[in-house]
Amino acid sequence: MEKIRWVIEESEKYLANTTRDPESQPLVIDRGEGVWVYDIEGNKYLDFTSGIGVNNLGWPSHPDVIKVAQIQMTRLAHAAANDFYNIPQMELAKRLVQLSPGNFSKKVFFSNSGTESVEASIKLVKGTGRKYLIAFLGSFHGRTLGSLALTASKPVQRYSAGPFSIGVFHVPYPNPFRNPWKINGYEKPDELINAVIEYIDFWLFQHVVDPEEVAGIIFEPIQGEGGYVVPPHNFFAELRKLAQKYNIPLIDDEVQMGLGRTGKMFAIEHFNIEPDIITLAKALGGGLVPVGATIFRSDLDFKKKGIHSNTFGGNALSMSIGLKVVELIKELMPHVNEIGKIFGEELCQMKVDDCRGLGLAWGIEFVKSDKTPDPKVRDRVVTEAFKEGLIVISAGKSSIRIIPPLVISEEEAKIGLSKLKTAINRVRG
Ligand SMILES: Cc1ncc(COP(=O)(O)O)c(C=O)c1O
Repeated sequence: MEKIRWVIEESEKYLANTTRDPESQPLVIDRGEGVWVYDIEGNKYLDFTSGIGVNNLGWPSHPDVIKVAQIQMTRLAHAAANDFYNIPQMELAKRLVQLSPGNFSKKVFFSNSGTESVEASIKLVKGTGRKYLIAFLGSFHGRTLGSLALTASKPVQRYSAGPFSIGVFHVPYPNPFRNPWKINGYEKPDELINAVIEYIDFWLFQHVVDPEEVAGIIFEPIQGEGGYVVPPHNFFAELRKLAQKYNIPLIDDEVQMGLGRTGKMFAIEHFNIEPDIITLAKALGGGLVPVGATIFRSDLDFKKKGIHSNTFGGNALSMSIGLKVVELIKELMPHVNEIGKIFGEELCQMKVDDCRGLGLAWGIEFVKSDKTPDPKVRDRVVTEAFKEGLIVISAGKSSIRIIPPLVISEEEAKIGLSKLKTAINRVRG
């Protein structure tokens, strides 16, 4: 513990103040192996975080991805890929176009993170000449100033950064458990969907902004940072109808939910609609490299050369890794759905106040008797789980996200779930 304390103290001295919490999770990671993470003193933890949706293929990565990376590194890594061409970039773009929903011509822009993939989507839709964007309350889209203007997860994330230069209107997300109309969205999903669609169409569009000035509607297919909130099944079909009525492109932010997390390659495939733009990042880099991708309808392409570009996007190393990653994740889909069922069944039987999810993307929520969020209980569960040797991360006001690497075995799943149950029972008695 002495060494751990020393690293934490020195880190706090020299690193920017971000989101680390030395009290509840004093974790100094040394290495990872599959679904297990080891700290610098050899303590072993089971991981239900996947490095926030990055290590979908396990820690440090899948052996085949590491092999591909090693070979590519000795050949070509950085490639000035927006100025010159390289084959891995061309191949990954082609593969993402093939795999993503949307039976129309598509293209891809590569970057280095989720926020950048969202920034690119903002510029693409603004190329239509329209000015404003619509985003959902509770959504997270990144922390650079464009994507942060869309983010409405927690006020602290926007603290001291505004006012923002892009016009964004935030509207309620169809959260079945907690929404402004107090509709029980599990029992009355259509009522909840109508309330949201009406809010946009009859309130926002009649009183605040002409829909002809709206460049895009951005959403998360399942809200991640906002608490792993799954909307009613028909919501996106209705949103698509509304968007079609006014010719507004839909931007599907799959940075956290994409690439197999929900049991399908793209989470939006559960909801049977074809977005105009899809953003990806996190898991695409196989846990080895940062990468972002914006897949878009070809007619939305940047209208002039030079409107958008970057230095590292499309580099041969991350592209060859991404190609291997998508193939391996695709093969894992039956496994994710099988193990996901175990998670769903067991989590919903624990002493939690709400549980929701798809595949291996689950959220559990803790509330007080009047249904207001209970972050204290949630935080204690996170701390107790850590003492049990299980890493989990919070989401939303009083939820915990349960997102193990997709390669988790049934046995490992049961070990982790049992640790979590112990932690919850200890807090909730
Ligand atoms: C849905 C979503 N979009 C965008 C981002 C931003 O990604 P990054 O942190 O890589 O910039 C995140 C990060 O958690 C996210 O969950």
